[in-house]
Amino acid sequence: MPVGEVETPRRRHDLFSVIELIPESCIARLDPQKIFGRAAPLHVDLGCGDGAFLFALATRMPEKNFLGIERLASRVEKACRKAARIDNMRVLRMESFYAVRYLLPERSVEAFHLLFPDPWPKRRHQRRRIVAEDFLRTIWAALEENGILRIATDHLDYFTRISQLAEESSLFAFMQPSGENDFPVSAFEKKFTSTGARIYRLELRKISPVM
Ligand SMILES: C[S@@+](CC[C@H](N)C(=O)[O-])C[C@H]1O[C@@H](n2cnc3c(N)ncnc32)[C@H](O)[C@@H]1O
Repeated sequence: MPVGEVETPRRRHDLFSVIELIPESCIARLDPQKIFGRAAPLHVDLGCGDGAFLFALATRMPEKNFLGIERLASRVEKACRKAARIDNMRVLRMESFYAVRYLLPERSVEAFHLLFPDPWPKRRHQRRRIVAEDFLRTIWAALEENGILRIATDHLDYFTRISQLAEESSLFAFMQPSGENDFPVSAFEKKFTSTGARIYRLELRKISPVM
């Protein structure tokens, strides 16, 4: 927004109607080329929170397109405010698994980032964890050939379970995870490292199983 211009509700609406995706249908696949106005490799941040990580990454890589998916309205709004400052970032308010399964076209994503997914530490809540067999299959279908799923968590038990699921699925190869300086630091990573928590990272590359 030009300096000195006031952000009226109307103006905010106009701006966010481009930045925040409101899909025309909950069952039709999105068209990334139409959404971003160009064809470019697509990165998706699942549970993008306030969008700080994605905004920093999109700023670093102007040649790529970046989509943040988040279900909490207040965080979507914060992410949209950041996205409005650049051309290559959009935000979708939706449940991540649903969006990947039903809205993202197959083989359309170069990389997924899943940073600090809710760990649901209590045993009786663990079925709410987003990473499960189905989730990995769905991510696999949405990834391009050799596409990457990057995961970071401070929760060792969740990390161990994710690694086990990935190994059992045989849909992914384990990559050497990028170092902590290779990507921007997300808001939750900042929060966890400030308490001295250890961060566990996993990088999976899509492979095609031998038939
Ligand atoms: C612990 S925070 C991490 C936020 C951000 N990735 C970061 O690292 O700063 C988890 C985020 O994922 C969102 N979230 C959790 N489950 C989700 C789901 N199934 N679909 C969409 N967003 C989800 C939460 O609302 C929250 O903003």
